[in-house]
Amino acid sequence: MTIAQSESDKIYDELIAAHTIMRRGVDLLRTALARAPTAPVEVDSCVGVGRWLIEFVHQHQRTESDLFWQPLADASPTDVGELHDLTVQHIQIDRELDQLASRLDHLEAGREAAAAQALRDLDVVRQTLSDHLDEEESLLKALFPMLEPALIRTLRTAAARCASSARPDLVLGLMSEPTPTIGYTSMLSSIPFPARALRPLLIARFHNRKRKLGLAA
Ligand SMILES: [Fe+2]
Repeated sequence: MTIAQSESDKIYDELIAAHTIMRRGVDLLRTALARAPTAPVEVDSCVGVGRWLIEFVHQHQRTESDLFWQPLADASPTDVGELHDLTVQHIQIDRELDQLASRLDHLEAGREAAAAQALRDLDVVRQTLSDHLDEEESLLKALFPMLEPALIRTLRTAAARCASSARPDLVLGLMSEPTPTIGYTSMLSSIPFPARALRPLLIARFHNRKRKLGLAA
């Protein structure tokens, strides 16, 4: 017998899926930068993936702060301080991502040692982001069940509408490999049908992008 998932389980699993895309995206970029790319196609690919990742994280954090924090604070006033801490962490991550973005500009411009500097900046944001995601996942797992199911449905719809449509091959590829993330099915159903129908093509494009990064696909 299949047990129906609660709305709070669904929104939590979708959060984990988005977080997994970010964690895997950081690791993908890290592996590519660690190879010290010099070939134009590898440099272009690193810069492209890096800029996509930066915008994905910025957008995800805006969605959390704009959509989720107020209803969660209303549902659990004693956790307002914890939500405030998460917002402070978002600001720090945004700042570190902006630093990484300027390194990617240097990499694109062919500056010497830019890949090594970008790698160092990525490692800084990787640690901050990982600590933040761990803390956020633990808090939201406890708080989402305090929201009414109808409100969660509204929030899930709004969050799906806010999600960036850029580079769907990266979103699908990182969700899918090496194993489908928690929340995969739910996230996939929120992707517009035309993109979902192109899944095999997008996965092939993801593998091609990895090869252009100089990585095995
Ligand atoms: Fe967050």
